Amino acid sequence: MSIDTYISQEDIAKRVKELGQQISKDYEGEELVVVGVLNGCFLFMADLIREIKIPVYVEFMKASSYGDSTTSSGKVDIQLDIKQDIAGRNVLVVEDIVDTGLTISGVCNDFTARNPKSLKVCSLLFKPARLENEVQIDYLAFEIEDKFVIGYGLDYAGKYRELPYIGIYNED
Ligand code: IMP
Repeated sequence: MSIDTYISQEDIAKRVKELGQQISKDYEGEELVVVGVLNGCFLFMADLIREIKIPVYVEFMKASSYGDSTTSSGKVDIQLDIKQDIAGRNVLVVEDIVDTGLTISGVCNDFTARNPKSLKVCSLLFKPARLENEVQIDYLAFEIEDKFVIGYGLDYAGKYRELPYIGIYNED
C-alpha cells in the first residue's frame, strides 16, 4: 500500500484561512454555533474555528445515514447529539467530506426542524461524482475527483486520520 499526497498541508492551511475570513465577513456582528460532524471533521474544525473572528459556540455530533438513497432520502441516525438549543441561532454544520450527500442532508433535515435562524454547510471536501442527494454546500474548501482520500481527519478503516495532509490511498 502507498499514499500519494493529494492536497498539501500548506494548501489546506491557505484554504481554511480563506474560508474563515469569508465566514467572519458573512456573519459580521452575529454569533455562530459551529457543529462538527464526527469523527472526520475534528482537524478541519479545530483549524477553521481559529480562523473565524466572530464569537463561536463549538458543538459536535455523530450521525450516520441509513438505508439506500431511495429509501433514506436524507434520514440519519444520531448517535451523539449537540447539547445546545439552536432555535433562533445561526448554525454552521462542518463536515469532512460530502460524498453521497446522505449524511449532510439528513443532518440538515434534522436541524431545520429545530428552527434555527439560519443553517449553512461547510465542507472540507466534495466528491461530485458520487452525489446521490442534492445538497447545498455554502463553504467548500476543495472539490475532488472520485478517489478514496485519507488524512487530515479522514480515515481508512480507522487509520491515517492524523496525517497533516490529504492523501490518496492506493491498495497495491
Ligand atoms: P456521505 O456519503 O456524503 O454521507 O459521507 C459519509 C461519510 O463517509 C463522510 O463523512 C466520511 O466520513 C466518509 N467518506 C466518504 N468518502 C470518503 C473518503 O474518500 N475517505 C474517507 N472517508 C470518506
